[in-house]
Amino acid sequence: MKISVIGGGYVGLISALGLAELGHDVTIIEIDKSKVDLINSAKSPIYEQGLQELLEKHIGKNLSASLSYESVGGSDVSLICVGTPPLPDGSADISYILSAAEKIGEACKDNSDFHVVAVKSTVPPGTTKDSVKPVVLKHSGKEPEEIGFAMNPEFLREGRAFEDFLNPDRIVIGSEEPKSAEMIEMMYAGLSAPVLKTSLTAAEMIKYASNALLATKISFANEVGNLCKRFSVDVYDVMKGVGMDHRLSPHFLNAGCGFGGSCFPKDVSALASLAMKMGENPYLLNAVLQVNEHQPEKMIELLEARTGPLSQKKIAVLGLAFKDFTDDIRESRAIPIIKALLAKGALVSAYDPLANEHMKALIPKITYCTDAKSALLNADGCLVVTEWPEFSDLNEEFHVMKDQIIIDGRRILRTEQAEGICW
Ligand code: UDX
Repeated sequence: MKISVIGGGYVGLISALGLAELGHDVTIIEIDKSKVDLINSAKSPIYEQGLQELLEKHIGKNLSASLSYESVGGSDVSLICVGTPPLPDGSADISYILSAAEKIGEACKDNSDFHVVAVKSTVPPGTTKDSVKPVVLKHSGKEPEEIGFAMNPEFLREGRAFEDFLNPDRIVIGSEEPKSAEMIEMMYAGLSAPVLKTSLTAAEMIKYASNALLATKISFANEVGNLCKRFSVDVYDVMKGVGMDHRLSPHFLNAGCGFGGSCFPKDVSALASLAMKMGENPYLLNAVLQVNEHQPEKMIELLEARTGPLSQKKIAVLGLAFKDFTDDIRESRAIPIIKALLAKGALVSAYDPLANEHMKALIPKITYCTDAKSALLNADGCLVVTEWPEFSDLNEEFHVMKDQIIIDGRRILRTEQAEGICW
């Protein structure tokens, strides 16, 4: 199939490469010229395991990037993958979606073949049906039977995105008519995953509900974890026992300093804000976010209880990315943790295998180190914030600290001196 992917950000780039790998002819349409140039010269604008190799394999063959929407006219499917950033009230800003819909419409004007416009971005329920569809139809001048619409949410985890693309738990396809759903199903031919066909709006809601439930599991594990610590019970044993129930699952019950990233905080806030707009009180969603905001504070409280006042104390922060195998610091728990340390007058030395540069751009006035040992040198305390596997091998490195007060926010350390945030 010929596919135009609108947006060369994280979702667009991974989807485009995954679809190229499935054998399709893919054009990425991106408004940022520097990104277009990077992609066309086979240089990845972001870090993701396996991305560089796939880019080199497909660029100039069945993958290219362009500033123009010209390819849409000859495509079977346009996949909208632009951002839906949060507005100040937490709700999703869909202006990039609407602008993409306008341009797709204009590019489809002279297209005589049936074309499916599919939204992959996370959008509030009702967006595809009530906003994208009328905008595309208006700007293309086409009748509803000439253009199909679909909503096909993505469930990729950063750091493991290609693994997830090629082995999805499920493919969700929302549509109003079978023809569009069939074309999207055909687009994924070659993957063995159950396909759930549903309405446009239900598909949109599935994405929000999935992320909200996963975030709820984490906040639940954290709240129970805080209580477990009071009883000197290991929350990881407790959650192991809980997760063995077939009605639940053992995943996403790891207690720690909370969830970050580009999806969970944004999507839970967006769903809560939607609930308020619709006259429903989002009791549970608000609590999920509150527990998440509280965990970094817990970590600081625990540290202070062990080190005494933090003013002028040197504190090593290990891990800055929101999770392992990414350089992404969006909503990373390291941000509130470092800010709280600085507010208390601590001297912060930080290390992350990939994310130092990104954090430096956000918080320049701390010391960035090229390895864990340098960050730990003469430190009065250490906070482990990201679950990087390399941290589990740290042991003798802690001996260079002034005082071996080590708080693990991710249950990643093996050293006996470490104390867990809630274990
Ligand atoms: C998530 C969803 O998993 C994915 O399906 C969706 O499409 C986008 O959002 P991602 O943000 O890449 O993916 O990261 P994920 O691996 O889900 O982790 C999110 C955050 O939760 C991380 O900060 C991680 O450290 C934290 N986490 C995860 C926990 O604190 N405990 C857990 O048990 C699992």
